[in-house]
Amino acid sequence: MIGVVRRVLRRGFELIERPFDRLFGPALNPLAQLGALGFFFYWIVAVSGIYLFAFFDTGIERAYESVQSISVAQWYHAGIMRSLHRYASDLMVVTVVVHLLREFAYDHYRGVRWYSWLVGLPIIWLLYASGITGYWLVWDRLAHYVALVTSELLDVLPIFGEPIARNFIATGTLTSRFFTLMVFMHVAIPLLLLAVMWVHILRISRPRVNPPRLLAAMSLLALIGVSLLRPALSQGHVDLARAPVEVGLDWFFLLLYPLRERWGGGGIWAMLGAFSLMIALMPWLPPLRRAKPAAVHLDHCNGCTRCAEDCPYEAIRMVPRTDGAPFPTQAQVTSSLCVSCGICVGSCPSSTPFRRTGELETGIDLPDYPLKLLTERTVACAATLAGPARILVFACDHGGAAGRHDGTVHLPCVAMAPPSLIDFVLSRKLADGVVVAGCAESACFHRLGVAWTEQRIAATRDPYLRARVPRERVATVWASALEIRKAEAMIAAFAAEVAQLPAKPLRSPLPATARAVAPERLEAAATGDGV
Ligand code: HEM
Ligand code: SF4
Ligand code: SF4
Repeated sequence: MIGVVRRVLRRGFELIERPFDRLFGPALNPLAQLGALGFFFYWIVAVSGIYLFAFFDTGIERAYESVQSISVAQWYHAGIMRSLHRYASDLMVVTVVVHLLREFAYDHYRGVRWYSWLVGLPIIWLLYASGITGYWLVWDRLAHYVALVTSELLDVLPIFGEPIARNFIATGTLTSRFFTLMVFMHVAIPLLLLAVMWVHILRISRPRVNPPRLLAAMSLLALIGVSLLRPALSQGHVDLARAPVEVGLDWFFLLLYPLRERWGGGGIWAMLGAFSLMIALMPWLPPLRRAKPAAVHLDHCNGCTRCAEDCPYEAIRMVPRTDGAPFPTQAQVTSSLCVSCGICVGSCPSSTPFRRTGELETGIDLPDYPLKLLTERTVACAATLAGPARILVFACDHGGAAGRHDGTVHLPCVAMAPPSLIDFVLSRKLADGVVVAGCAESACFHRLGVAWTEQRIAATRDPYLRARVPRERVATVWASALEIRKAEAMIAAFAAEVAQLPAKPLRSPLPATARAVAPERLEAAATGDGV
């Protein structure tokens, strides 16, 4: 059941995302930048909040007037700040909800990814608590409504000795104390939220916490535009003697408030409890089958740190050498963080099929799918190729070419294939062309696999595809699991181009950015033969 919902949602996301990719380009696609946008909106809320605080009177008697003067008398600076504060908070809610749905749709919440998912749960609670306490501070009719419903909800829980809701039906001393408490909470909770947001990304390597500048500028301009067109305004001074009816609600934060009349406080808490329990249990329902984590083979590790730099999940640490070899460090895998994506295998300089002697072993390998097996499958698959252009496809299990059978070598991530394997296939003339096919650029299942592969082929990242490899015989196909036809069409078009090439591959000059890294102890990519 959960799998069906996930697949339907994923289809929905992919249908929306691909046009976004075409419109904005994969780098600017906002749906691929939701986490970063969440941080960006947080900073807007924080900066505008600090600014507003300078003009806000924290006493219950003067609070409303001070907010009014901000919105009306100082509309051109503090008023805009107030609107930015409100609308950026609303956008944070939207961002978080879509981010949650997207991580679920792309199956980014199970296995070792449970951590970021679970830490997301307190983020939702803290975000809502920040917004609700904020509405309280305006001390207008909406604030009265929020105060009443919130205190009625809190009264259901055994927190306070006596019911607090009645303090908002007639003026009382507790009202004023409560107001001061709300002011304090509206500062403290967002600070706690920031701390939890930081904890949320602790296990992610190179998390994108800043959106691309153009996207940030566009979002800020849009927010300023909305603030000018529809400034955030108060809804009349609070009158505790009169029930707050017909107030305008902010549906982003107060969606559940009208339901209290129908469901009662107990019903709402039950719903929130069920939602939280579901989110908390989801990473283990149904459990993800885990392949064995990557293992380091010290005999082939020179401590170059590339695997640690490339791992998207912070699963590799460089630790002091334990085997007496003349290198200061060695790689160490934290098994509980490894998702067996194989990206480290592709980044290790020892991962080369150009071996004259000995077993094909490398510095870091996947026990369930070692480099030796990958090379054997590549050679076996190439032997089945025929026709005017023999095209070998390295396909990631999550992209548009995942379902291919003929001429395809499957990988958990495209970045598992070391560039020297492409070199090997072409220089040994096992195939006439090689396609590296992965996920859509903006939605790499293993976050960084597409980026690393592109950089390795462009010779801007080690280990790079050597200059001698004719680039006209190498193609990349980035397509989502939905874009099967697109992937096939691109592969067919590439095959047609390769069929037109002269029989002997041309040499291309070494790009200026390329840099040879020679691992001392090892028979590395530099020992390649065949040309
Ligand atoms: C203010 C709210 C939030 C912010 C700012 C935020 C931010 C981020 C960022 C920056 C990343 C790293 C993205 C990347 O570089 O690939 C991330 C990943 C993630 N987030 Fe959030 N997040 C928020 C809320 C949530 C919530 C509510 C959930 C779900 C309950 C969630 C689930 C996840 C998961 C599962 C990942 C890991 C994805 C992966 O391993 O590839 N996040 N988040
Ligand atoms: S297999 Fe993937 S997650 Fe595991 S250590 Fe290697 S790069 Fe990191
Ligand atoms: S990439 Fe290979 S050689 Fe370099 S540190 Fe990792 S395991 Fe060792």
